[in-house]
Amino acid sequence: MLILSIESSCDETSAAVCRGREVLSNVVNTQIEEHKIYGGVVPEIASRRHVENISAVVEKALADAGVTYSQLEAVAVTFAPGLIGALLVGVNYAKGLALSLNIPLIPVHHLRSHIAANYIVHKDLKPPFLCLLVSGGNSVIAEVTDYTSFNIIGSTRDDAAGECLDKSARVMGLNYPGGVNLDKIATVADTAKYPLPTPKLSGNEFDFSFSGLKTAVINTVHNAEQKGQEIDVPVLSATIRQKVCDILIEKTLLAAKLKGYTQIALAGGVSANSELRERMQKECQNNGFNLYYPPLEYCGDNAAMVGVQAYYEYKSGNIGDSSLNAVATMPINYR
Ligand code: KG4
Repeated sequence: MLILSIESSCDETSAAVCRGREVLSNVVNTQIEEHKIYGGVVPEIASRRHVENISAVVEKALADAGVTYSQLEAVAVTFAPGLIGALLVGVNYAKGLALSLNIPLIPVHHLRSHIAANYIVHKDLKPPFLCLLVSGGNSVIAEVTDYTSFNIIGSTRDDAAGECLDKSARVMGLNYPGGVNLDKIATVADTAKYPLPTPKLSGNEFDFSFSGLKTAVINTVHNAEQKGQEIDVPVLSATIRQKVCDILIEKTLLAAKLKGYTQIALAGGVSANSELRERMQKECQNNGFNLYYPPLEYCGDNAAMVGVQAYYEYKSGNIGDSSLNAVATMPINYR
């Protein structure tokens, strides 16, 4: 089934052509440079750029795949969650296209598509498996019981891991997107030089908390400023990264052991983190688990992962119509 997919949930305008798990083209137009001067994504600017870019991005995706509009069998689009104005651009474009071509419209949940990024390269990966899904706005441990069926067993009680990394990076003066730059600049952690707290949570043992860590980093930087001391950014970056990874890895491995999973996948923007990938790989080897993570090009927002998830949504009968709307927040296990 030849699917054209569209992604516009945040600051990337992307379109792809996929056939099942096979990606024929994937065009990503990122707005990072423009948002950098503001230290984060400005929703209004993001929406406008999507409007300006979307037609050219779709045309290029078709041209790269060597496919014409008349060959398409469905149009898929990210409809939730994300920046509402940004999502609306993709949703309305996809609706118009599906209507004019008289082909099905497939709504895709953004987080489901992040998980599907794994299917593109790991042809052997099939549910059930456990997934650590970590992005700028979400941190969850999900049981992927089927391609369109998910059970959240742990989630953050406050900030997402990506939010903690991004804000820590910003307070240290690193450019947006902070998590990426923090990962690049980090050297060797020194917990004696920069002691950071480990969150203690009662209740669900698979839940996370990152706001205390974020606040501790902000206080560390502000205290140093007040005393006229210079922060060793590469060392503090490494210390933060190590702490975030400690938390994510401990909870994920515990969940896999207690719930009896031997296949673990990483997904979302933070799954690009070099330490997370390396340490998870070692831990999984030591524990006899198979680890899967997407290649870097599919960790961030892209339409290829939307197209692959759309294939499974279609097979499950999740088809939209002209009443489809964009939704800013929606759980992954929506019905
Ligand atoms: O999944 P994503 O592209 O967007 C959504 O939030 O949906 O994730 C973006 C997040 C940002 O917080 C960004 O800083 C983080 O992923 N990120 C990283 C790395 N690359 C991206 N965090 C840590 N290390 C990285 N290498």
